[in-house]
Amino acid sequence: MFQVHNNLATGSKLECLIVGIYEHASKFFGFTADADELLEGQLTQLLKEGEISAKAGKAAKIHTLGKMGVKKIIFIGLGKEKTADFESVREAAGKAFKLAKEAKSSSAAVDLDSFIGANVTGSDAAHAISEAFALATYHFEGYKQKSNEPETFIEEVQVFSKEDQDEVKAALTVGYVFGRATNSARNLVNLPPNMLTADDLAQYARKLGEKYNFEIEILGKEEMEKLGMGALLAVNQGSVEPPRMIVLKYQGKEEWTDVIGLVGKGVTFDTGGYSLKPRESMVGMKSDMAGAAAVLGAMEIIGEMKPGQNVVAVIPSTDNMVSGNAFKPDDVITAMSGKTIEVLNTDAEGRLALADAVTYAKQHGAGYLVDVATLTGGVIIALGSEMTGAMTNNESFFEQVLEASAEAGEPIWRLPYTKKDQKRVRNSKIADLNNSPGREGHAIMGGAFIAEFAEETPWVHLDIAGTATTKKDSELGTAGATGVMTRTLALLVERFEV
Ligand code: BES
Ligand code: MN
Ligand code: ZN
Repeated sequence: MFQVHNNLATGSKLECLIVGIYEHASKFFGFTADADELLEGQLTQLLKEGEISAKAGKAAKIHTLGKMGVKKIIFIGLGKEKTADFESVREAAGKAFKLAKEAKSSSAAVDLDSFIGANVTGSDAAHAISEAFALATYHFEGYKQKSNEPETFIEEVQVFSKEDQDEVKAALTVGYVFGRATNSARNLVNLPPNMLTADDLAQYARKLGEKYNFEIEILGKEEMEKLGMGALLAVNQGSVEPPRMIVLKYQGKEEWTDVIGLVGKGVTFDTGGYSLKPRESMVGMKSDMAGAAAVLGAMEIIGEMKPGQNVVAVIPSTDNMVSGNAFKPDDVITAMSGKTIEVLNTDAEGRLALADAVTYAKQHGAGYLVDVATLTGGVIIALGSEMTGAMTNNESFFEQVLEASAEAGEPIWRLPYTKKDQKRVRNSKIADLNNSPGREGHAIMGGAFIAEFAEETPWVHLDIAGTATTKKDSELGTAGATGVMTRTLALLVERFEV
């Protein structure tokens, strides 16, 4: 996909060249200075007039009208060099690739060195550019017989840089792996629920596991019954689709120690069950397996990058349906851990499925746990749709997740978790726990419930109900699934320190 060259001549035959510009002097450097000369100073003129702008996010497409080999140059503003960083460069590159795609170019070229700045090394720029390329040009096929807009595909990207070629190539590969894995997660979330059942998700995971030589375990209903996974089974009770508990293990250390457990909610469709969702809020509930998608996306990156860590991914998967067999409010169920749960709301099903998955992850040796879940509408009310809600029982582990999320550009914000919250989830006359202590702070209640199963194990909870999908197109994506937390989880694993 990416070809790296160490020299960009003004005569090179290129359809579309992307050049980044930082706000500084009113003149051009390197390739652009040569181009300016060929164009008789017109680029400088356009820069003066503000037609070409270095302001962050400003873009200009300039036709060279046969005066040089490069047909079109897309200038993309990078803002002030001091404030620009990996994230802002990635966004700018994403915008530029979107413009290149709109221009119906089948190939694009990038002047990589023009993106290098005070806080952005050549490797950073290369990673940002290839990741942005994958993310920005993502598109979900869909099922239209005839697409409204025929898609154009950029089939290759020429990258020009005077930096160390091997380093540039390596960083391009990493960024592209991260971007593509995020797109894999997006694809899973965008799939309609009739085309992605629990078993379909399990088959996807199996293929992934086979590709990367992970240890694979997929539990069916009978095995779950034997293991006493009463919480996940309760959620599945009303469904004609059998449940799956999906386990993938990656061993990157000699010994199976310091295992990171990644647990992703894999509810393929959430009707709410007997605590039925109103018709408006049921639409979109195909995305209730976005946590599972993020975990599988992260496992794809892990499979490619092979970090020196141990990881167990555990995904409880089912849909949440109504039928004569379905579980009901007032039911009392027993989770795999032995804890009994009074069901007050069948729409608080994610925490039930996750309870058994967390217990199972611990049984598989997880000494650290991250759960990722589209768990509550409450988190959207609390934090909006740009922030993932986080909770923890362990400060230093949380710190590591926070750092990974910042690096990935997937921001998280901490919600409180106190003894009083524990008390509320433990408040039941007839069971150990209740699954829905009421509307007040209910995003916190979701996390607090899962904490009852993490127990002493360092644990971070990520509620992605607000961030898993978006209504808006952006520099690095389109409306629909975002693939959020794929990269955060992968970076957490890569950088993890005991
Ligand atoms: N899957 C939903 C949460 C959700 C809401 C995800 C909106 C994406 C967008 C979850 O299972 C749910 O229904 N949560 C309830 C919990 C309540 C019954 C305690 C909620 O948030 O309303
Ligand atoms: Mn629900
Ligand atoms: Zn749900």
